[in-house]
Order: sequence, then C-alpha cells, then structure tokens
Amino acid sequence: MNVLSRLFFIPFLFSCYAGFAQHIQIIPQPVELKVTSSKTKFIVDNNTRIVLKDSAGVNAANFLKNYLVEYYNTTCQITTENHTKNAIILELQAGKDPIAGAYTLSSSAGQIRIKGNDAAGIFYGIQSLIQLLPVSGNLNEGLASIDIRDYPRFQYRGLQLDVSRHIFPLSFIKKYIDYISLHKMNYFQCHLTDDQGWRIEIKKHPKLTEIGAWRDGTIIGLFPGTGNDGLRYGGYYTQEEIKEIIQYAAERFITVLPEIDVPGHCMAVLATYPELSTTPDKPKQVAQTWGIYNRQNNVLVPSEKTFAFLEDVLTEVMALFPSDYVHIGGDECAKIWWKQSEETQQFMKKNGLKDEKELQSYFIRRIEKFVNAKGKKIIGWNEILEGGLAPNAAVMSWQGIKGGIMAAKQKHPVVMTPQAYTYFNQKQSVKEDSLTAAGNALLIDSVYAYEPVPKTLNAEESKYIWGAQANMWTEYIANPAKVEYMLFPRLSAISEVVWSPKEARNWERFQKKLPDQFKRYQLWKSNYSMEFFKQNALSDPRDIKK
Ligand code: ACM
Repeated sequence: MNVLSRLFFIPFLFSCYAGFAQHIQIIPQPVELKVTSSKTKFIVDNNTRIVLKDSAGVNAANFLKNYLVEYYNTTCQITTENHTKNAIILELQAGKDPIAGAYTLSSSAGQIRIKGNDAAGIFYGIQSLIQLLPVSGNLNEGLASIDIRDYPRFQYRGLQLDVSRHIFPLSFIKKYIDYISLHKMNYFQCHLTDDQGWRIEIKKHPKLTEIGAWRDGTIIGLFPGTGNDGLRYGGYYTQEEIKEIIQYAAERFITVLPEIDVPGHCMAVLATYPELSTTPDKPKQVAQTWGIYNRQNNVLVPSEKTFAFLEDVLTEVMALFPSDYVHIGGDECAKIWWKQSEETQQFMKKNGLKDEKELQSYFIRRIEKFVNAKGKKIIGWNEILEGGLAPNAAVMSWQGIKGGIMAAKQKHPVVMTPQAYTYFNQKQSVKEDSLTAAGNALLIDSVYAYEPVPKTLNAEESKYIWGAQANMWTEYIANPAKVEYMLFPRLSAISEVVWSPKEARNWERFQKKLPDQFKRYQLWKSNYSMEFFKQNALSDPRDIKK
C-alpha cells in the first residue's frame, strides 16, 4: 500500500471498527463467529455462577475465576449445581469436530455455554470468553451475544524461552505460561542449558549447578570488545520448582518441552567436567560472551564417559517431564573441535564414521536409542539431519525451512521455527534502537504473514508439519519487562498463524483487533512494543477513538 492510500485507509479501517464491531476482537481468529444479537448482553457479576457439568471443565473454570478476580475484582463461584440463569456452563461434548481442542461457545443475555470436545477444548472456549470481557475493565458493558465454533489448525503451537543466557524468576515463568495459554497455544519449550549457564538441578550431578549455573561476568553490549560487567551471574531451577512449572502448565493444557542442548552449546557442562571436552587438560569457564564462532566454546567429546553422563542427565529429565518428547538441541556444534581431537578421530575410526557429520548423526542416534528405550522420543534443531536423521526424531527447522521440508519428506514430524519469521529476539522495526536486540528486524506483519506449510510439500507430506513455534533467545534480554516487550504484540500475531484456518487469516482485520489487544496487555500490566506502529503506520492505534 502506498503512503497516500494508507492515509485514507487507516481512518476508514478504524471507523468500521468503531461502528460495527461490538468489540468482538478474538485473537486468534476463530473458525466461525456469528453475532446473534446486537442488543442482548451477558453481564458478569459476583452472582454469576461458573457451572461444571463435567469435571473436565475444572481447570478452565479455575482459570476464568482467577482471571475475573485478578483483572475485574469480581468473584464468581464455581458450582456443580444446576444453575441456568446468569450462568457460564461448561461441558464436555463429543462434537462434530474430531480435532483435539475443538469447542463451541454460545452467549446470550442470561447464559453462556461452552462445549468442548475434550478438557482442552473447554479451556480454549474460556480463552475466547475472556476476550469477550470488556477491555475497559467495566463488566457492566456486557458481553456480546454470539456463537462460535472453533478448533486449532496445528496440534503444536509453541513458544520457547531461553533461560540459560538469562534466568527468570519462577513467578515470571508462570506469567509466560499464562501468556501462552491466553493465546490458545500449547507447548512451552524451555531452553535449560547452554554455554552461558546450566539451569536445572540434576541430583546425580550437583556440581552442574554448583559450577555450571554461574558465570563470573557478562559481556557488555552486543559484540566482543565492548567490555565485561565482571558480575557473577546465575541460578537454576530445583526439581521441585520444575515440578511446579510443569503442574502450572498442565493445568493450562500446555506441555513443557525441556531442552538439554548437546553436543555443542555445552560450555556450562565443560566448565564443570573438562574431561568431557576435546581438550580435557584445559580448565574451562562458563561462557561470558555470546555466539559460538569465537573458538572459545568447546563441545562434548564422543566418549563412553560422555554418553554415561548424558544418560544420567536424561534419566532425571525424563522422569521429571511428562512430555513425550525431549529436545536434545543438536544445533551449531563446531566440528573443528572433533577434527582437531585425536581421541575423537579414534572414536570415529572405531565406529566406522567417515566424517564429523556422520559423527553428529551417530551422537544423536545413540541418544535417541536411550530415550526411545524409556518410552520417549527426541526432537532437535535441523542440524540433526546432518549425516542422516535418527529413526524416530522430530525436527525443528530454524535455519530457514529447508530442514523442515527434508524432514517432512522423510515422514518425520516437523515444527517450523525459521529465524526470519519466528525469532522474537529481533527488533520490532527496522529503525528501532540497535541496542535493543540482536540481528535483523522482525516486523509483526512478517510474523503474521508466515505460512508454516511450505508450498513445495504435497498434501501427504504437509501432514508432517506438526506446527510452528516462536523463539525468545535472551542474550540481550535480561529481565521480564524486556521479554514482554519483545513478545508483544508478536505473540498475538503468531497465535493466529498456528491456530486459525489459513483462509481466516487476514492482516487488515488483525490490525483492527490490535487496539483492544493493546488494552488487554495494559489490563494484564504487561509491557509491549508500539515500535511497528511508530515506525510503519501513520496512526498510533491507542489514539483511535472508539
Ligand atoms: C538456534 O537458534 N541455534 C537454534
């Protein structure tokens, strides 16, 4: 759109919005949504009852009750009694939609009914109901009378958080999980280990958190040469805390996917156990700079000692996390270390491996065998395709979509997370202050436009696209407020990518929904970025009068 047409279009867009929309601004866009009456309205108050027809609605009911207390200072009792007036009725119903997570929602003046195909469906119905609540905070404005029929497009709808580069308090991890659930997403990938810190208690190896969880300083600025703050930094989550996170997520129908990144990104392990590196006689430090290209970051040596260590770690991780999958990383392993290591070259010869790519594949397959024997599966970054994919592995495609296409063609589940569209550690506008983020800009319209199913896949191959994920790497994100700033509003955009039918996705309509969404962020007291609108639009959506 040129500047002139944008000038006329934007006021037009928002006048439509003000006139007709009745504040029905649900993100992600539901499959079907009909306004049944423009006049009748359901008003939530302290006498409203949340009626459980079935115990499957308990988590959904609790979520709504807590939300109303926290953001509307209103307490609605949950009951199993048969209220029909001023009632929000939650029930299970095997519906026409066979898809997990499907639900219907029907609201009228006296009653709201949510029927889920399963417990998750009821929960997603509650998320839509929450978005019908007045963003002004005044419940007397009432909820529109509407009918919704809805279900997710993809069964994997993920958001990742890197807690290694910077660690975040348990309270914020819970908030982050709430953000995932408020967007009807269902996977939280927790990047627990990296060069800059080991963040999970492993009972058999307490040294990992005594040594590997702490670094003696952090680089200042983006690149080496700008100094180091010299401050000791670190921390970790105990297994009890991890259990609390898992439980909190499970109540929101979110699977926590743990990532233990190997064989590269392992300096926190190697600072603890130098004997697991290719240079065992050299003492090592938990990394204080970012990136893997500075030749400072060694990798795991392929040895029986290393595999025994990994089996110890994975045994505890698998016992802790109910997820079917364990993420084993596999990315950016600098092969130079293996090339230069006599011990590694011997290991390759002994195992008939012709190059380091085959060794990478051997490494991953060996871990996979161990994980599969415990009844679980592995997922890894697209580098696990190098030298041949392990038989039951799923792939996360981050270096573009090529890896995802290759894996889908080989009939392996794929989560699309291409850097150019889904890395939320990038700036939100081209002109944003370069100190705010690494890399290029990732504008919200690009996130919204992302299509997870590549055109080159046929219908059968496309079935292997399990879903997509946004990633929050935290080299330059040191506190919760900045995580929120980088997250919003892009999380809202990607939620439509992974939930809404492709044909229901509409950038113009999504923009119309954003003013209310910004008010919701304000209601949640969350930080968010207006950068895209400052740099790219002629109006600030917050200034639009309704
Ligand atoms: C990655 O960004 N190294 C997966």
